[in-house]
Amino acid sequence: MCRPSRILPALFASLAACGPPTTPRIPTPYVSDVTIIGHRGASGLAPEHTLASYDLALRLGAAYIEQDLQRTKDGVLVILHDTTLDRTMRGPLASCTGRVADHTIDEVRRCDAGSWFNAHAPERARRAYARERIVTLEDLFARYRDSVRYYIETKNPEDAPGMERQLVAMMDRFRLREPAAREGRVLIQSFSARSLRTVRAIDARLPLIQLMERVPTGADVGAIFDSVATYAQGVGPNRLDVDAAFIAAAHARCLVVHPYTVNLEDDMRRLARAGVDGMFTDFADRLRGVLAQLGRTRTPLATRCPRYGW
Ligand code: G3P
Ligand code: CA
Repeated sequence: MCRPSRILPALFASLAACGPPTTPRIPTPYVSDVTIIGHRGASGLAPEHTLASYDLALRLGAAYIEQDLQRTKDGVLVILHDTTLDRTMRGPLASCTGRVADHTIDEVRRCDAGSWFNAHAPERARRAYARERIVTLEDLFARYRDSVRYYIETKNPEDAPGMERQLVAMMDRFRLREPAAREGRVLIQSFSARSLRTVRAIDARLPLIQLMERVPTGADVGAIFDSVATYAQGVGPNRLDVDAAFIAAAHARCLVVHPYTVNLEDDMRRLARAGVDGMFTDFADRLRGVLAQLGRTRTPLATRCPRYGW
């Protein structure tokens, strides 16, 4: 068996991909409800990618909490959507503006990650948000360990070569690789197929989601999915591209469908009825309410994918 070792983490990192090849599993197809993915936590209600935002998303019913991964100048993986600090950080200009890749973690830790939200959404402001700080991947795993499900995006991975191996090494440190492989408790997503293939080369058991930019009119979605299905277990399309035919084409290739970012109730209803497997939303509570009203909306998959257990 390939198990994590406290003594030999580096050795484990190479051994963990050994053993009988098991197929990546994503839990959504064999639960009855649509999976609620807390986009940047509960970012419609609290400052995105802060611990306050993640705590709230979990309280409101998110099954997964979502992270965008970037890297500081001194090589620390941090959770931040933008490549720059300007939109969501406040504090000394020298530390809290410009590209995150140009700052050390010590510099970025000086910044306040919540005041911008209080100014942006005064009706939802809380004084405590001003005490929120940037969250490193290590901070995140140390807080929640294996008690939650993570949905981690390698963001701009071309600017941070080796990010994928760092991510998997951190998962090993917190013994999250096996829960990811066995139960889909960590899903890794990216707009970069190259980044996902890099993860797959590290450990082919890890479940992967290919994010998609808008699909051009007339594009051959089936051909796109044929390619994605060679290395990933699902797709994360723009909500505007998703309808029943899109979902059927993905399911025919054993790909789950998790559109982003679905915040309006009408969209939530439409997509749930069309048969999506999950949705990224800034408002986990809103999606939970819509799904409760609809009851079991997801149609049983016409395609059986025994290799995934569904
Ligand atoms: O990862 C799904 C969705 O978050 C992609 O868009 O720009 O919010 O990372 P973005
Ligand atoms: Ca994202």
